[in-house]
Amino acid sequence: MQILVLNGSPRPHGNTAAMVEAFRRGAAENGHTVAVVNVCKKIAGCLACEYCHQKGSGHERQCVQKDDMQEIYPLLDEAEMIVLASPVYYHGFSGQLQCAINRIYALDKPQKLKKAALILSSGSDHVYSGAIYEYQNSFLNYLRLEDMGIFTAYDKQNKSPEKLEELYQFGKSLALGVPAKVVRTL
Ligand SMILES: Cc1cc2nc3c(=O)[nH]c(=O)nc-3n(C[C@H](O)[C@H](O)[C@H](O)COP(=O)(O)O)c2cc1C
Repeated sequence: MQILVLNGSPRPHGNTAAMVEAFRRGAAENGHTVAVVNVCKKIAGCLACEYCHQKGSGHERQCVQKDDMQEIYPLLDEAEMIVLASPVYYHGFSGQLQCAINRIYALDKPQKLKKAALILSSGSDHVYSGAIYEYQNSFLNYLRLEDMGIFTAYDKQNKSPEKLEELYQFGKSLALGVPAKVVRTL
């Protein structure tokens, strides 16, 4: 399976990156192709110019803004599973990940996507509802993706061996065709 991970943390060795790497290792060991993309370098917000939606223009599903999203669009169209990974900022995704998500608007629906998962890191517990609401409504419901799991870490859970093992095992479980349990319900 082709898996695309969008990492919305600007910290290359941070808590989100550690969970992403554990997941990537588990999934890759079982033969999945995992592309991990950090979205924090150069991705601007959507301009709402509708360039991407002009029918018969020859540039439908193309974004007028030529930044790092241009590398992500083909990966989005190839991926069967998307993993959104983010630190919690003000009870939501990081601004960088939110910009990348908003820019998916150009594609409307990525062609092969079937599954999704969510990875969140935070300082405190009980701060996940905003990000989970967006994940459930914009990805599971609107894009009609199957939820493969929601993984969260706060405070001392961040980078703990137990949490990293959980993410590693999640990656490994994907090859078995057994959907991972949703580990957090609100
Ligand atoms: C701008 C900003 C906003 C944050 N907002 C929250 C928040 O609302 N709730 C929370 O528990 N932690 C918040 N944090 C803490 C981060 O979510 C936490 O440190 C996280 O583990 C960072 O992940 P990273 O190392 O992958 O970047 C915030 C941090 C920053 C820099």
